[in-house]
Amino acid sequence: MKPIHYAIGIDNEAPQVIDITSGNEGRGVWDKMVADNIRIAISHHRILRPGAHILKFYPVDPGVVLQRLVIDAGGVKPSYLGPPESPLTGLKDSYAGYFPVGVAVSPRLLSGPDTTLILQQFNSLTPDNAMKMGPIHPREDRYNWKDADAIVDFAQRHGLRVRGHNLCWHQQTPRWMFTDAKGDTVSKEVLLQRLKDHITTVVNRYRGKIYAWDVVNEAVADDSTRLLRNSAWYRICGEDFIAKAFEYAHAADPSAQLFYNDYNTERPEKRERVYRFLRRLVDAHVPITGVGLQGHWSIYEPSAQELQAAISRFSSLGLKVQITELDVSIYPWEKNHRTRRPGEEDVLTPELEQRQADQYRMMFSVFRRNASHINGVTFWNLSDKYTWLDNYPVAGRKNYPLLFDVNGQPKKAFWEVIDF
Ligand code: GLA
Repeated sequence: MKPIHYAIGIDNEAPQVIDITSGNEGRGVWDKMVADNIRIAISHHRILRPGAHILKFYPVDPGVVLQRLVIDAGGVKPSYLGPPESPLTGLKDSYAGYFPVGVAVSPRLLSGPDTTLILQQFNSLTPDNAMKMGPIHPREDRYNWKDADAIVDFAQRHGLRVRGHNLCWHQQTPRWMFTDAKGDTVSKEVLLQRLKDHITTVVNRYRGKIYAWDVVNEAVADDSTRLLRNSAWYRICGEDFIAKAFEYAHAADPSAQLFYNDYNTERPEKRERVYRFLRRLVDAHVPITGVGLQGHWSIYEPSAQELQAAISRFSSLGLKVQITELDVSIYPWEKNHRTRRPGEEDVLTPELEQRQADQYRMMFSVFRRNASHINGVTFWNLSDKYTWLDNYPVAGRKNYPLLFDVNGQPKKAFWEVIDF
């Protein structure tokens, strides 16, 4: 059983540490409360002078959530304090009967105040950059495990699951991967061997600790006249690298769930090409568990119908669906980088915040309706304090795509997502 301690104190008195890991109440009530996952405890404090006092509540173990505080002032009428203005129920708790809820992190987030929010809200982590090929395998004979290990260790310590991201992509690949010592492009055989070594080493290291991997990321082209992206992987290996990547990952950890991950998968035109691509893999018995819909969405798209159509279409292949990189931009989607236009606003107005809350409510209601197909939802970053969308596609234009604001406080959208 996980330890549950909190501490409480008034003014400068030494906090009283209270252990509610196991029963401390009269039987009958206690059984019901434990069944409902509620624990209560009573502490006594002496207040020796009249006037205002400060009551301090300290969560000692991660995950302790204060739901109700009853103040019984010695015979005077008890007064109830309602929930304080902070999220009492984590996303993970609201969605416990549906799917794990995760967040993409860098190791930097795993200390300090962000940790509290992470542990209160999420039960799954994804390294945002640490496991990409470039950062983790900078030279052919050198792996850099530091950041990836830190994230996996943190997750193990706190009982969170980890989704690995990613094993093969056309971006953030190390320079050495495609060339030999003379600088010439390597052959298909050499490249597949390198891919195999990479995947085998990385997946093996975290075997049993990472439950799911994005094996291939974004292999389908943006160009509607092509199926596959004309990446270095494709130019050197043809389409074979995709099936091979899944086979290597499966051999290294046969219990890991293996995903193909991509964006704009709800736009009907790309959806159909992704569907065709996935159907080929399924027909060829490639060991693929599911498809990751990145979910870099906006207040303008997708619609409920588009989202439903994508989930239905992909799951009709017998594949699981995960939402892997969820954020809801307040701007329309643009692919290419550009500079900020003179006078271009970047304020989260009450109207935009409301539209975003409506969009999040719609999306999560679609997710819940499809919970038999969806086995994970992960947000791309923790709060609006830091999001990659502050610099993409427009450098220096602030975006506010997440459920927590720049101070880590819940936004309107948060309440829409947990109140159902
Ligand atoms: C893609 C990748 C992610 C991340 C985002 C931008 O969606 O899959 O790993 O790089 O772009 O942050």
